[in-house]
Amino acid sequence: MVKASQVDFLVMGAGVAGLRAAVELARHGEVLVVTKESLGESNTHYAQGGIAVAMEGDEDVALHLLDTINAGDGLVRRPAAQALVAEGPVRVAELIEWGAAFDTEDGKGGGELLRTREGAHSLPRILHARGDATGAEISRSLAAFARVHKRIRFAEWTTVTGLAVADGRVIGADLLDSESRLKRVSARAVLVAAGGAGQVYSDTTNPSVATGDGIALAAQAGAALADMEFYQFHPTALSLPGVPRFLISEALRGEGAYLRNDRGERFMERYHPQLELAPRDVVARAIAREGMAAAPDSPPGCSRPVHLDMRHVKNIDLGQRFPGISAFLAQHGLDLARDLIPVRPAAHYLMGGIRTDLFGRTTLPGLYAAGEAACSGVHGANRLASNSLLEGLVFGARAAHSMLDDGLPLVAADATESVPVPLTAGEEAPLEELIAGLRTAMWAYAGLLRRESTLLEGLAAQAVCAAGLAQLAEQGKGSRRLSEAQAMSRVAHAILHSALARTESRGAHFRNDYPQRDDERFLKHSILNRKGPEGQVVFEAW
Ligand code: SIN
Repeated sequence: MVKASQVDFLVMGAGVAGLRAAVELARHGEVLVVTKESLGESNTHYAQGGIAVAMEGDEDVALHLLDTINAGDGLVRRPAAQALVAEGPVRVAELIEWGAAFDTEDGKGGGELLRTREGAHSLPRILHARGDATGAEISRSLAAFARVHKRIRFAEWTTVTGLAVADGRVIGADLLDSESRLKRVSARAVLVAAGGAGQVYSDTTNPSVATGDGIALAAQAGAALADMEFYQFHPTALSLPGVPRFLISEALRGEGAYLRNDRGERFMERYHPQLELAPRDVVARAIAREGMAAAPDSPPGCSRPVHLDMRHVKNIDLGQRFPGISAFLAQHGLDLARDLIPVRPAAHYLMGGIRTDLFGRTTLPGLYAAGEAACSGVHGANRLASNSLLEGLVFGARAAHSMLDDGLPLVAADATESVPVPLTAGEEAPLEELIAGLRTAMWAYAGLLRRESTLLEGLAAQAVCAAGLAQLAEQGKGSRRLSEAQAMSRVAHAILHSALARTESRGAHFRNDYPQRDDERFLKHSILNRKGPEGQVVFEAW
């Protein structure tokens, strides 16, 4: 039997967590970074507002920890948050050394780093780059640094379609390249750093690549998932008919923007003492309620416009501070300095994911996870704004350390080299219909306001999608899109079951039928483990 090609470490995903891990791993072995599109197309690239980091010494580290814990609504795993805030300054300093250019006082890299404030932060500690292009700058600088490394290879336009498991250990992965060839690669350790799954929802700030592939593959291979009910809905995505839910960064509120309902009222006064800078889950629900209050019979979501108002902010040049957002708004005839900007919540960030320890180890030997795909418990039930890029840096490096420390041997997997049966043109349209049906149902039934009856409707819709996908798979069909659809369906299944099991409201998970937080029963993490019956959720004080 021909053996699969080999590499020491295989990294799935080329966002901040994957690239940071790859740089570390390459000091000790050959690394293959696999990414579905070109390098740079990841959730990281689209992060606008910034990276939260305590650069002001121990006192700020302690406050950053407190802010992270408070935002997480009782479920933050303290040691994970401690690692995040304490190691963050070193990781960011290192990134600057490698070429990341954050905005500074003189606008040319000189003077102090500029810092802004975002929701639920007690201090301005958010670094930003090119105004509102922080993720793009981090992605650019890390990719440039990694690209010149001789021991890092990139497989762009390549989809991971399966994990190879032998004797209870992950020993490699199956890759589908842009010419639809399927090939197995053996690796000593595989890192899933493939980001989140915003595409599971019809309304999302995430790019089209965010289909939860890594999470679904890990679960399918037998790794446990945790906290899947906690999906963060960003309060302010652009709300224009026929226009994608473009992110309107929280940094606008950090610079003074108000939220106004359709009567012009600054409604956050009724919801939280921190007003527009309240935790993200509070602001998102307030916007949904203000929208629904105007039309009480409308389905979950916003039926009447809520606006972001920056017209009174005169102390900064808005075009210069937010060039990307200003340019996108200009395409639609809107100007931050002149117009009210219509906004609504949209799926943004998954706090849950593949269960890991503090060093990215999943429950399946040989498999590691970092970044949004992972759940170390660092965000609890609600992530503090701008902690995600920092998470990628800190936990990407940590996962690499455990992959090196564990020193697993290479197990040569048998080669799989084949060309799956492509979908016919007549099958592609129904596949897109299945995907669209799932995404619409998830938004309507498992969005930011849920209840048992809607979640059950969501499960029924997910079952229809899963059955349609199973039919295609049984015919030996294979394509990137089919693989993405299977991932979205699995992730939706996990979200729905976890949300049904948590009969309380906490952080980003709000049940209209259980509106209170219930610490007695639910100061715990939800765990989905393939060892139990399908969809069975257990709660653990982890
Ligand atoms: C934003 O710029 O509002 C997004 C930042 C984040 O998700 O933390």
